[in-house]
Amino acid sequence: MLVRIFKSAEDYSIAAASEIARLIERKPDAVLGLATGTSPLLLYQKLIRLHEEEDLDFSRITTFNLDEYVALPRSHPQSYHSFMTENLFSKINIRPGNIYIPNGTVENIEEQCDWYEEQIKLAGGIDLQILGIGGNGHIAFNEPGASLGSRTRIKTLSEQTRKDNSRFFNTMDEVPKYAITMGIGTIMDCHRLLLMASGKSKAVAMKNTIEGPITAMVPATIVQMHRYAMIYIDEEAAAHLSGEHE
Ligand code: GLP
Repeated sequence: MLVRIFKSAEDYSIAAASEIARLIERKPDAVLGLATGTSPLLLYQKLIRLHEEEDLDFSRITTFNLDEYVALPRSHPQSYHSFMTENLFSKINIRPGNIYIPNGTVENIEEQCDWYEEQIKLAGGIDLQILGIGGNGHIAFNEPGASLGSRTRIKTLSEQTRKDNSRFFNTMDEVPKYAITMGIGTIMDCHRLLLMASGKSKAVAMKNTIEGPITAMVPATIVQMHRYAMIYIDEEAAAHLSGEHE
């Protein structure tokens, strides 16, 4: 596990964008795993800039998003479909047919989850998966207690996560209760992982993730077992680390 501590989210986003650019240059039809939330936002802005100013070509890449709320229409401003369209896809030359985001509005959720796993397999697996982290150590929507071998499935959101995400909705009642999420096993199958976090609110979760024992109660700790996991965090998120890290 490679842990890199940067001055700011701006700095780690530049490093993460070059990592992705290098991957696309080496493998123009790379498969990227994407995340939502504030943690990857600046990274997406850097990728858009690389596309606009340096012709970074997304025309052959395929993307798989980690998760999506259940029962929220895709067109809802807070759906992860809307987030991705607004913050990345509408501003780069990705082919719409190469974009995969779980669909939380289908009748048969289980079938949708199996289909999603199958599409990842058919694409040849995910070359690089971007991850954020929840304040409680969740990755994607794998909340504390999630099975470490889990695959894409429906999950109930914890009260803490609903509270954290309520800032995007008008009332607590509007915050979805369920989500479709890649499982921890799905994430661990990705060839490389890049987890990013910034700010004080992530400091305890990052201490546990990097230095704590591996436990399903802090799902992100499983990245310690991944062969190619990179962790890019800012100084605030690194504040509680006691070990020597770069
Ligand atoms: C949501 C997403 C996660 C994300 C987390 C943290 O719950 N499902 O994928 O990592 O929020 O979000 P933020 O980066 O905004 O703190």
